[in-house]
Amino acid sequence: MKFLLIFLKIFLLLIPKISSNPTTLKNLQILIERKFQNYPDSYLDDPYYKPDAEFLRSSNRTCIYNKLNLTDNKIITNDDLKNFNDSIAFGRLAEDFHTLAIYVMYSCIDDVDEFSKHFFARNIREPVVEIPRECIECVKNELLRLGVEKPLISHFGGLKDHSVEQCKEILKELKKATRSDEGEFRGCLKIYDKVSREFYLKFNLMKFEKVDEKIYEIERKRHEKISREVCEKFVKCMIDEYLGK
Ligand SMILES: *[C@@H]1O[C@H](CO)[C@@H](O)[C@H](O)[C@H]1NC(C)=O
Ligand SMILES: *[C@@H]1O[C@H](CO)[C@@H](O)[C@H](O)[C@H]1NC(C)=O
Ligand SMILES: *[C@@H]1O[C@H](CO)[C@@H](O)[C@H](O)[C@H]1NC(C)=O
Repeated sequence: MKFLLIFLKIFLLLIPKISSNPTTLKNLQILIERKFQNYPDSYLDDPYYKPDAEFLRSSNRTCIYNKLNLTDNKIITNDDLKNFNDSIAFGRLAEDFHTLAIYVMYSCIDDVDEFSKHFFARNIREPVVEIPRECIECVKNELLRLGVEKPLISHFGGLKDHSVEQCKEILKELKKATRSDEGEFRGCLKIYDKVSREFYLKFNLMKFEKVDEKIYEIERKRHEKISREVCEKFVKCMIDEYLGK
């Protein structure tokens, strides 16, 4: 009797885990397979992700499946892929699951160095959050204020004076763009705020002021390391929040 009770207790504990997820997981697997197999994808085809799409599609499937605890033996048919509709599968959470899928893909890119070179260069060419050239001295002030000026700013030197008030005004947009709401991706996006702020400042600065190769490499390597760590944390947070693991 006692044994039965314990068994029942364990069984009840396991039920939510077993039953809440199979459909979601299968849908997530279809979502990911569609991305790999070049189906039209409003996210990977969007200008925000498109420059990275090739890298994302070459990311390591085994690594992705491991991170999400997906098993390869769930059969996904061509019809599954063809008839998939993300808003039917995930409802209001479609964007969240696309984001989860894409960031797990980011975190499973094998050629980290090659990707970092691509990502860093393209963001300097075309920062997602742009700051006008006239405001570049303010960018330097802000990097100083954040204490992340080395080695980049130290290298440029010669800060011109801007009043704190002027700078605040100029940088308001950037701050807005890199500050996420509590509710965005259930709070997970906050993990990116600080790093985004630092690097959008730096990307904009490097867009307008040429930096020598040695400093460029130091900054790129720092970005590679930090963004790898932040991406891992973000993915972990998303998995916890959305797959309840
Ligand atoms: C892909 O990921 C798996 C699991 O993380 C790893 O064992 C394997 O070495 C990776 N493949 C390549 C080509 O890096
Ligand atoms: C995957 O499954 C293993 C074993 O069942 C478990 O320890 C791990 O926490 C799970 N990971 C995720 C991300 O669900
Ligand atoms: C997906 O389903 C929604 C809701 O039923 C519908 O409005 C939309 O057109 C469908 N999308 C595609 C690509 O079929």
